[in-house]
Amino acid sequence: MSTPSKLFVVTAPLPSEPKVGRARVLMQSEHARRAARLSAQAALAPPLRFEKNSDDVPLPYQGWSWSVSHCAQFVAGVVCELGVGVDIEHMRDARAEVVERVLSAEELALLGELTPQMFLRAWTAKEAVLKELGAGLGKLERCRITSLEGPDALALDCDGLRRTVHQLIEPEFVASVSCADGPQAVWLTVRTPISSAAEEHG
Ligand SMILES: CC(C)(COP(=O)(O)OP(=O)(O)OC[C@H]1O[C@@H](n2cnc3c(N)ncnc32)[C@H](O)[C@@H]1OP(=O)(O)O)[C@@H](O)C(=O)NCCC(=O)NCCS
Repeated sequence: MSTPSKLFVVTAPLPSEPKVGRARVLMQSEHARRAARLSAQAALAPPLRFEKNSDDVPLPYQGWSWSVSHCAQFVAGVVCELGVGVDIEHMRDARAEVVERVLSAEELALLGELTPQMFLRAWTAKEAVLKELGAGLGKLERCRITSLEGPDALALDCDGLRRTVHQLIEPEFVASVSCADGPQAVWLTVRTPISSAAEEHG
C-alpha cells in the first residue's frame, strides 16, 4: 500500500431534532457515519461497513480505517488506508478540574494563554490520537503535547509514538485529525446537516 497523499475529513452540523434521549444519540451516530461516507467517496474508498470490536473500537474494512466523532451540535468523519482518529468539540469554556485532568503544568506553559479555543485544540488533539490508536481515555496521561506547530497543528507524543495532529478551528467548533505522518488533511466543511440523498450523490 502506498501512503495516501490526502486525508479528507468531513465535518457537518447536526439537525435540531430529536432533541434528547437515545433517539438523539442514534441520530448523532448516523450523521457521523454519513460524514465518514462522504470522506470515503472523496478518497475513492469502497462503501464502508461500520463494524467495531467488543471494546467499541472501529474495525478497518477492506484495508480502510475509519473514525467518527459527535458532539452536541456537530459531527466529523474520516476514512484512510492508514490508521486514523478524529475528534470534534463545540466551542465552550472548560472547567478548571477538566483542564487539570487533561493538561500538565509543562503543557500549560507550552500552550500560553489558555483560551477556550486553545484548550479545545489540546483536548481534541489528544482524543484524536487516542482514537487513532484505538485507546480510550484511560491512556490520556500518556499522551502529551510536545509543541505548537502553527495556528492549526500540534505535535504530540503518546507512549513514544509521535504525531502531528491537524486541526480545523471554526467559530463554533474545533476538530482534530490524527494519522501516521504523511497525508495532507483536507477539511470538507458541510454547512447543513447531511441528508441521505447528499450522501448517495456525494
Ligand atoms: C473513545 C473516546 C475517547 C470517545 O470520545 P467521545 O468524545 O466521548 O466521543 P466521540 O463522539 O468523539 O467519539 C465516539 C466514537 O468513537 C469511536 N470509539 C469509541 N471507542 C473508541 C476507541 N477506544 N478507539 C477509537 N474509537 C473509538 C466510536 O466509533 C464512537 O462513535 P459511535 O458510538 O457512533 O460508533 C471515549 O469514549 C473513551 O475513552 N471510551 C473508552 C472508555 C474509557 O476508556 N473510559 C475511561 C474513562 S477514564
